[in-house]
Amino acid sequence: MDRQPRKVKQLIRPQMVIEGAGVRLLRSFGPSRENLYDPFLLFDHFAFNDPIQGPPVGFPTHPHRGIETVTYMLEGNVRHRDSLGNMGVIGPGDVQWMTSGRGIMHEEMPQRGPDGVINGFQLWVNLPAAQKMSQPRYQEVIADSIPTLERDGMKVRVVAGEYDGVTGPVTEIAARPLYMDVTLEPDLEMQFSVSPGHSAVAYIFEGKGRFGAEGDGPEEFIEAVSMVVFDDGDQVVVQTGVDSPVRFMLMAGAPFQEPIVPYGPFVMNTQEEIQQAFIDLRNGTFVQA
Ligand code: FE2
Repeated sequence: MDRQPRKVKQLIRPQMVIEGAGVRLLRSFGPSRENLYDPFLLFDHFAFNDPIQGPPVGFPTHPHRGIETVTYMLEGNVRHRDSLGNMGVIGPGDVQWMTSGRGIMHEEMPQRGPDGVINGFQLWVNLPAAQKMSQPRYQEVIADSIPTLERDGMKVRVVAGEYDGVTGPVTEIAARPLYMDVTLEPDLEMQFSVSPGHSAVAYIFEGKGRFGAEGDGPEEFIEAVSMVVFDDGDQVVVQTGVDSPVRFMLMAGAPFQEPIVPYGPFVMNTQEEIQQAFIDLRNGTFVQA
């Protein structure tokens, strides 16, 4: 059977936004009722990495319900602490896949690395209605435990899903995600299998490359930083130019096709469920140990 390369459907230029206690982020998309990237709700790139701009600011204690937050650090780290007694540090190359389920309260405080830089991503993944009120769950994977394929000018870190027989350590996620950090040297063409029917996006954060079937993209080379949204198909094809490497996050997942109502850090299916989240917060029943 012929492989169906995915074409580029949309090219997003990330916009600077301010969240938490004044954290500057580059946001590719955020939660909306249109749910265009189902099952993905939000993708942020921590961009507050100018060492001359004083101490980093973070995200003081806040709740989440009905979603998963995925933190992946490139440089610097994030110190986190939550209402269930979990605490730790997400360092360079580490990932934290947090399933909020019915509710957690946590704080996330970024810290600079040795060279003064903080660089990382946070992805929000939706939960289906049947799992929105499930028990909270963490999967924390340190850098050394993430399988890395390195060959033929390519480096692929597989966090979730499968590439070329290598399966990522984050498992049992409702969206059946693919989540990979890919680096390609110049003058390569690589194919990545992505299940047909799944939503797929790529966040290009270093260099540039051609994404999608040849000649179909809105532009020849797509440069960092950009979010590419793909049409359906069963593989993503990426080419690098003769003198330009590229690095990107490749993310795909099964859409839930349910109505959603986002409100700040909550994403539920109905307005009533959002109101219930506020009632639970007020009554002190939001977090159940
Ligand atoms: Fe959070």
